[in-house]
Amino acid sequence: MKDILPEQAIRWQRLEQTFRTLVARHGYGEVRTPLLEPTELFVREIGEDTDVVSKEMYSFERHEDRLTVRPEGTASAARAYVQHAVAAVEPVSRWYYLGPMFRAERPAKGRYRQFHQAGCEIYGDPGPACDAEMIDMCAELVRTLGVKDFVIHVNSIGSGPTRTRYREALQAFFEPNRAALSEDSQRRLTTNPLRILDSKDPRDLELSAGAPSVVDVLADDDAAHFDALRRHLDRLAVPYVVDPRLVRGLDYYTRTLFELKITTGELGAQDALLGGGRYDNMIGNLGSKKPVPAIGFAMGIERVLEVTAREEPKVGPACYLAPMSADAIGPALVLAKRLREGGLWCEVDGRGLSLKAMLRRANSMDARLALLLGADELANGTVTVKDLGRHEQDRVDQTKLAEEVARRLALPTVPVSEKASEGG
Ligand code: HAM
Repeated sequence: MKDILPEQAIRWQRLEQTFRTLVARHGYGEVRTPLLEPTELFVREIGEDTDVVSKEMYSFERHEDRLTVRPEGTASAARAYVQHAVAAVEPVSRWYYLGPMFRAERPAKGRYRQFHQAGCEIYGDPGPACDAEMIDMCAELVRTLGVKDFVIHVNSIGSGPTRTRYREALQAFFEPNRAALSEDSQRRLTTNPLRILDSKDPRDLELSAGAPSVVDVLADDDAAHFDALRRHLDRLAVPYVVDPRLVRGLDYYTRTLFELKITTGELGAQDALLGGGRYDNMIGNLGSKKPVPAIGFAMGIERVLEVTAREEPKVGPACYLAPMSADAIGPALVLAKRLREGGLWCEVDGRGLSLKAMLRRANSMDARLALLLGADELANGTVTVKDLGRHEQDRVDQTKLAEEVARRLALPTVPVSEKASEGG
């Protein structure tokens, strides 16, 4: 779990803003759900045999409630969608969320116990057009965020009859080698053989290599859905590969699955920047009066920030107010307040430092203007305005200060490197 300090938070805010703007353009509205949900919600929807539920949830009991700190956002959003009977008021809903998720995973590069997701969900549209539109939006999102080298893996794990057939095919395939599987997978072979395919245990990986592919058992309607999705993706020129091995580690998926992976190797095994898929049964399972198909994805914010450019241009306050004596501090606070009321960013140094020390501080903060307030200025109602980039200064009447500052700030900035390193 990591702290995010103000200097880093700028990158987070930019990413969040880009995400919000892009998804709003696609019709998504924000949902904010509690960080805690009944444990049962995740156990039922994500599935008991998944790593998330069986090993990674932060769960506890309080006042006879069994609660879990959310490991992901899909089940919570779906719970809210059903609880507020949204299906009764609109046929299609597009929701997004941003925030921390918690999984007690083994920490590694790109894998944390508190991490942040930006995710989207569509309720009420069976696809495949909206599946393609969402995948295309994911590609645009990461490209806009500065990720260049990526590929999108897509697969379909079908719905009802396909799932039953695939389950049987996997059981038939693994059964003769049951003893060679990990203990967990021996159990999964009976309860949920699909989960053997996302096991990271070397014994399971070796055996899984030759496992039958779901594509071979797709029912006709599932195959038609997947074909249509691929045609839409082709038309949209989305860079994708069909990956029959993609099963994703959550039980709720039906039909479309996708994952966007970076191809630079920077994140080792944690190469998925985002992942998602269709989950047409969840809303019905949660007690909705009418069954509602759904699809969504979530992007790992830490992972995206780790693979995109780290350098942010340094931006300092527009005005740094430097009171040059103790009795100038109070009037400086009043002037700063007026500038802020005029929409300007300014900071007052009320520590009672020397002028030299204050100018050094103003330069190191990359302030555009230093506003000096000393005995003379106080006496004649002026402020000395010092342009730190242009090395010019003059006196301005206090009543015209906001207007004058705004005029000077509208001038082009001088690059930081051309500024004097020392004020004076
Ligand atoms: P997920 O694949 O478990 O899917 O997580 C989505 C993304 O969150 C991953 O691709 C990764 O970037 C990031 N992520 C996951 N775990 C960690 C971690 N421990 N540390 C850092 N980043 C991590 C879901 O959560 C589904 N709810 C996505 C979805 C939405 N499916 C349908 N709708």
